[in-house]
Amino acid sequence: MPVNVAVIGLGHMGRIHLSKLCAFEGVTVSGICDIDDERAREYGTQYSVPVCTAYSDAINGASCAVIATPTESHYTIARECLERGVHVFLEKPITVLPEEARELVDLARLRGLVLQVGHLERLNPALTRALPRVTKPLLIETRRVSPFTGRSTDVDVVLDLMIHDLDLVLSLAHGTVQDVSAQGICFVSRLYDTVNARVEFSDGCVASLMASRAAAHRERSITIYEERQTFYVDLMQGKLVTVTSTGDQKTGTTEFTCDQMDPVKDELLQFVMAAAGHGTPSVSGVDGLKALELANRIRDHIAGKLRCRT
Ligand SMILES: NC(=O)c1ccc[n+]([C@@H]2O[C@H](COP(=O)([O-])OP(=O)(O)OC[C@H]3O[C@@H](n4cnc5c(N)ncnc54)[C@H](O)[C@@H]3O)[C@@H](O)[C@H]2O)c1
Repeated sequence: MPVNVAVIGLGHMGRIHLSKLCAFEGVTVSGICDIDDERAREYGTQYSVPVCTAYSDAINGASCAVIATPTESHYTIARECLERGVHVFLEKPITVLPEEARELVDLARLRGLVLQVGHLERLNPALTRALPRVTKPLLIETRRVSPFTGRSTDVDVVLDLMIHDLDLVLSLAHGTVQDVSAQGICFVSRLYDTVNARVEFSDGCVASLMASRAAAHRERSITIYEERQTFYVDLMQGKLVTVTSTGDQKTGTTEFTCDQMDPVKDELLQFVMAAAGHGTPSVSGVDGLKALELANRIRDHIAGKLRCRT
C-alpha cells in the first residue's frame, strides 16, 4: 500500500523534497501546490504528479504532507493538515510563535499523528559519527554564516539559520537553559541578519552561537569541547576531526569524512516510515518547539537591549 504524500510550497526546499519523494519506492506524491501556479504546473509536468491550486485540495487523499512554505504560513497549513488526520513534516522553524507550535504539538499528540520538523543537521553523518563518543560537553561553538541570498527574509537570522544550531545545542547539552545573552545587527533586511548568542546551561555547559546571512563566505560548523576531547564537525563538508588528550601534554587527532551525505533524503525517509508506523523521527514537534522557545529568548534579549538604548 503506497504512502500518499502532498508537497505544499515548491520553492528552494519544496523542490528538493519533491525530487527526493518521487524517487522513493512505496511513496506516491498524490498532489503538489504552490501559490505560484506556473511553478506548480512546471514541476507537475517535470515529475508527472497531480497539481492543485490550493493546499486544502492537495491533501485530499494524502496521508502525509510535506510543508515547505515561508515560515509565516506554517501554522495555518500544518493545523489544517493535522485536523484532517494528515501526518506533517514541517520545514524549520516549526512556526513563528511558540503558542502556535504548542497547539500543533498538542493536536498531533491528540490525533496520534507524526509531526516532524526539518532540523536536518541532526542527521548529518559527520555529527552522528561523533555522537556516541560525546559524553559531557562543556563548551559548544557553532558558526552558520552565508552571503545574503534574499530568501527567508520573512524571519530574522535566528529563525532562519541559528535555529538549526539551537536544536543541535539543545540535543547535546545535559542541563536546562539558565541564561541567555545576545547581540544582533540588521544589515541587509529590516530584521536581524547577524546574531551572536551565548547560552548557559544548568550543568555549566556554555554554547556560543554565531549566525549571519550577511557574511563574506559560507560556513556551517560545530565544535564540542569536553574535558579531554574536542570534536570539530564541518557540517557542510561532512568532516569530523577529533582531538584527544593522551596525557603528558600530548594529543592525538583523527579525521573522518563521510562519502555520501543526503540529510534531506534521510529525514524524509524517517517521516514516511514513521507515518507508516515504523520508528520515530529524530526531530519531533516538541524539539521544534524547544528550539523556537530558545530562539525567542535570544530575540527578546536583543530587543530588550535595543529598547534600553532609545
Ligand atoms: N532545512 C533547511 O536547511 C532549510 C533551508 C532553507 C529553507 N528552509 C525552510 O523552508 C521553508 C521554505 O523556504 P525556501 O527557502 O524554500 O523558500 P522559497 O521562498 O524558495 O519557497 C517558498 C515557496 O512557498 C510558496 N508559497 C508561499 N505561500 C504558500 C502557500 N500559502 N501555499 C502554497 N505555497 C506557498 C512560494 O510561492 C514559494 O514557491 C522555510 O520555512 C525555510 O525556513 C529550510
